[in-house]
Amino acid sequence: MSEHALRKQLEFYRDLGFEELFVRPSEAEQERGAEDPKADAAPGAEAPVQRAPAPAAASDERPAPAPPASDASSEQQPSPLQVIRDDMGDCTRCRLHKGRKTIVFGSGNPNAKLVFIGEGPGADEDAQGLPFVGRAGQLLTRMIDGTCERIGLPIRRPDVYICNVVKCRPPENRAPELDEMEICGQFLFRQVKAIQPKAICVLGGTAAKALLRPGVGITKLRGTWTEWGGIRVMPTYHPSYLLRGYNPEGKRQAFEDLKEVFTYVYK
Ligand code: URA
Ligand code: SF4
Repeated sequence: MSEHALRKQLEFYRDLGFEELFVRPSEAEQERGAEDPKADAAPGAEAPVQRAPAPAAASDERPAPAPPASDASSEQQPSPLQVIRDDMGDCTRCRLHKGRKTIVFGSGNPNAKLVFIGEGPGADEDAQGLPFVGRAGQLLTRMIDGTCERIGLPIRRPDVYICNVVKCRPPENRAPELDEMEICGQFLFRQVKAIQPKAICVLGGTAAKALLRPGVGITKLRGTWTEWGGIRVMPTYHPSYLLRGYNPEGKRQAFEDLKEVFTYVYK
């Protein structure tokens, strides 16, 4: 990328209210096994940025995580996730805002050791403001709870954190486009950085594309650890894909992947 193009790109993100930028590692870096694909924005982005306006109404805030109960000063000090949610505000940074009812920020334990990342909200999630509450979500819950039960872990869905690459429902459930993933991905990366989980489980090809190597399909990626920003990442199938039933082996493989993830994180 030319210096001019890079400057333009940084200005674009700065105007969207992002003070630091996360970039996906290039294919070459991935192949070299780069340690830290996170990069702080170049000096140009350190100029004072315009903050996104604070959310005016409370309707989008319902699913936002509560501040940690043990922190006496939590009333004055919003939790790191709440800061991100506040920065997001009534977000219109990409075209997906046009069709959404509710921003679906994420749900679960803000101190989780494990984060699941899906693609984007569907109709049920858009209506309720919570991720993975429709059919695919019910399967995800069964996969998480079932795997943990089977390997004797007292962990259940509320113990992990669950979110998506894009926080607004794409029209007619189409896959998010690259620019939408890159813009909204800035929030996702901040969420992961705030939670600092021991591992991430990416669900399906879209989430894998957002975090990992864009050119490689989920069938190839699944079941093998990789990493993002120093955090271990396990790609596996998306529950919606499993529900479609094209791949009779898929469910068993996804259970194997989850077993590997939960064993690594909690045992
Ligand atoms: N599919 C996703 O990728 N995310 C959701 O939240 C629901 C369905
Ligand atoms: Fe903003 Fe993300 Fe919604 Fe786009 S998808 S409008 S970036 S919250």
